[in-house]
Amino acid sequence: MFSHLQPTPIDPILGLMAAYKEDPNPQKVDLGVGVYKDENGHTAVLKCVKEAEALRLKLEDSKTYIGMAGDLSFNSHIEKLAFGPAHQVLLAGRVVTAHTPGGTGALRVAAEFIKKANPDATVWVTNPTWANHVSLFQAAGLKVKEYSYYDWETKGLKFDAMMAELATVPAGDVVLVHACCHNPSGMDLNFAQWQQFAELAKEKGFTPLVDMAYQGFGLGLDEDTQGLRYLADLVPELLLCSSCSKNFGLYRERIGAVSVITADSKTADIARSVLLAVVRSIYSMPPAHGAILVSHILNSAELTALWHQELAEMRNRINNYRQLIIDKFKEQGIAQDFSFITRQHGMFSFLGINKEQIEQLRKDYSIYMVGSSRVSIAGLNHSNIDYFAKAMAEVLKG
Ligand code: LMR
Repeated sequence: MFSHLQPTPIDPILGLMAAYKEDPNPQKVDLGVGVYKDENGHTAVLKCVKEAEALRLKLEDSKTYIGMAGDLSFNSHIEKLAFGPAHQVLLAGRVVTAHTPGGTGALRVAAEFIKKANPDATVWVTNPTWANHVSLFQAAGLKVKEYSYYDWETKGLKFDAMMAELATVPAGDVVLVHACCHNPSGMDLNFAQWQQFAELAKEKGFTPLVDMAYQGFGLGLDEDTQGLRYLADLVPELLLCSSCSKNFGLYRERIGAVSVITADSKTADIARSVLLAVVRSIYSMPPAHGAILVSHILNSAELTALWHQELAEMRNRINNYRQLIIDKFKEQGIAQDFSFITRQHGMFSFLGINKEQIEQLRKDYSIYMVGSSRVSIAGLNHSNIDYFAKAMAEVLKG
């Protein structure tokens, strides 16, 4: 039967990562995948993670199963990071969390959970959104539709169009929003816009699903959750998918969490049973390593302080490069306005250049970015920023 299989195109982001790896050009620049790199172009293990790993080695005395919900200490920490320690949804016992294999695992569990709650649900995603969102929800048998979000003309948001389209979404459908650091555009809702979105969700009765893959990479750990926390104040039900890939630098350990927020604690108990049944039918239980590391860090005031410092370093380095790109482009005589880059947050921005220009950058300069012109700003450093700016100047000349 395998002879009937048709080849499947490789995921655009992971395909790019593989192509970059194979490129022998020593000047190659990786602006593709959303992975933080330091000034040396290296994705180092955070110091707080190294210390937590040493602790784990010392303290761990069993490899027995951890259960379908995963590490309960991790789950409690992740809820507090997201909502703050005293949010009403936590105090009222309205949140159920399971730790998952990465943020993608969280989204897939959320998709299966939605399917159980309403098999006919449509999941509405931003236009554009993370390349994997659409296939992930479709793979769970859900319908996916897009709503207006990024405005290629103004390099801002199509907020009015977004609100008008979401006003037609019925109760029983799910609207995915990015908590912060929108992937791929870097363009986030401001707090006033979050408030309007929350009011609309409450009025129309659709269920928000907040994807929070970059907490701490935008404005700060708490600042990045302002919209989410307001939303949770207003609506009776929502879903949250969190990831520790970026903010703890735990990419390959695959550690994330799915949280279901219900109208009351009785429904939360039912939601827990459904969530765990979903987990059992996919992977039974999550891997423990990443969750134990995060728990060790957040259980220790010292390691938490170190983590805050390392996270701030990553965030500040990216933000500095947002300004540096503009300065270097000016130095190269680029007249086009790229000031929008400093109005965006997180790892990504769209450069807004066309397919031919993206292809030319890759072919002639070994500069890699996603086909939508999404760049991962963390791929830039002092050794390659001038090279990148010069190449851009050449390509923009046409
Ligand atoms: C990205 O968008 O580059 C990251 O989230 C990595 C991935 O899995 O696509």
